[in-house]
Amino acid sequence: MKQDMIVILDLGSTENTKLARAIRDIGVYSEIYPHDITPEELKALPNVKGVILNGGENRVVDGVEIDVNPDLYELGLPMLAADHHKAKCENIVTWPESEEELREAVEPFVFDTCKAEANWNMKNFVEDQVELIRQQVGDKKVLLALSGGVDSSVVAALLIKAIGKQLVCVHVNHGLMRKGESESVVEVFKNQMDANLIYVDASERFLGKLEGVADPEQKRKIIGAEFIRVFEEEARKLEGIDFLAQGTIYPDIVESGTKTAKVVKSHHNVGGLPEDLQFSLVEPLYYLFKDEVRACGVELGLPHDMVYRQPFPGPGLGVRCLGAITRERLEAVRESDAILREEFAKAGLDKKVWQYFTIVPDFKSVGVKDNARCFEYPVIIRAVNTIDAMTASVEQVEWPVLLKITDRILKEVKNVNRVCYDMSPKPCATIEWE
Ligand code: XMP
Repeated sequence: MKQDMIVILDLGSTENTKLARAIRDIGVYSEIYPHDITPEELKALPNVKGVILNGGENRVVDGVEIDVNPDLYELGLPMLAADHHKAKCENIVTWPESEEELREAVEPFVFDTCKAEANWNMKNFVEDQVELIRQQVGDKKVLLALSGGVDSSVVAALLIKAIGKQLVCVHVNHGLMRKGESESVVEVFKNQMDANLIYVDASERFLGKLEGVADPEQKRKIIGAEFIRVFEEEARKLEGIDFLAQGTIYPDIVESGTKTAKVVKSHHNVGGLPEDLQFSLVEPLYYLFKDEVRACGVELGLPHDMVYRQPFPGPGLGVRCLGAITRERLEAVRESDAILREEFAKAGLDKKVWQYFTIVPDFKSVGVKDNARCFEYPVIIRAVNTIDAMTASVEQVEWPVLLKITDRILKEVKNVNRVCYDMSPKPCATIEWE
């Protein structure tokens, strides 16, 4: 391993992630572990230069104040306590308010006391991971469900670099992808990166299963279950696969609360695959935050659009074609979404707005086209900003941009005679309509 590491021990703080971020931001790698890590486990971690005991409001568990194993103090590692408790080490007495103050507060400990080197960067990360993946996988084969989302794309690129054709990617096109999305997965991974990619066009199958289903939750369930079924069928056709790669990232793990940050990765069954299809996991992004995943993608040479794409729900356009999905409305969602994306990019809004898309409801309104009455669908535009998707505010898009988009949708998209802009923040509305 190339990077020095500062270990954060979770003593009931809700700010572990913030602290790890601050340390990584000053260029030193950092991981979070539970308070009850043993001296042996700590010693087994590579390149540990120092330890921060991160106490906080959840320090008392079932009436007892949790503490670290006292033998940790005997390891001779520099230690810092990030709350004013009676540890035998340096203290940060008050928790800094801003991210900048936090970085300044940990800097002397990290660099002066621990003598850590600021060598955390994506080039080193990629080199380390390539080596680790090769060690873990040997000459065996690895399977990956490649959706084209940021995480699975970066995992694919990393594994292709490490083991080339030993990686088998399966891309399932469920027919609810955005315009050009499946094509771009094939272009980037098969044509440019020469990956072993199995492309499954399951559009008809998904649309068949979804026929007449109007309830949003039911639609989600069908899409999720069918996805696993298609992936399972492909996996069964392949021989000699021992590993399953996954785009698990650090927030998925550390957000699960105190005392639960996992120390040892276990082999578990994933994504609802049946018992007899158990694989060992390869999770090379396990310790990365989202922005680091993107930086890793850039380092690996993935296209900017793929690495910086906006969030896209698993059920895809299926939850934006409201009610029971029909081909003509799905087409209207896909085409209007493509126009919206194109015009947002031209106006520079693609870099500013967190998520933007179109929705086509399952009712019609009256209009006039070519001097005749028409009865067609509306398209609703949604563009929102948010930090964590729990709340969201509406982007105040300039009128000329909205008018241009409206004009294009009305001219270019079939079966549509009206365009609306959704002005609702979350709450009361959610970001998606279903
Ligand atoms: P809501 O509509 O709940 O959306 O305000 C919050 C964020 O979650 C995304 N979303 C989903 N993502 N599967 C996903 O992978 C889903 O079923 C799903 N539903 C909503 C949504 O796009 C937004 O970013």
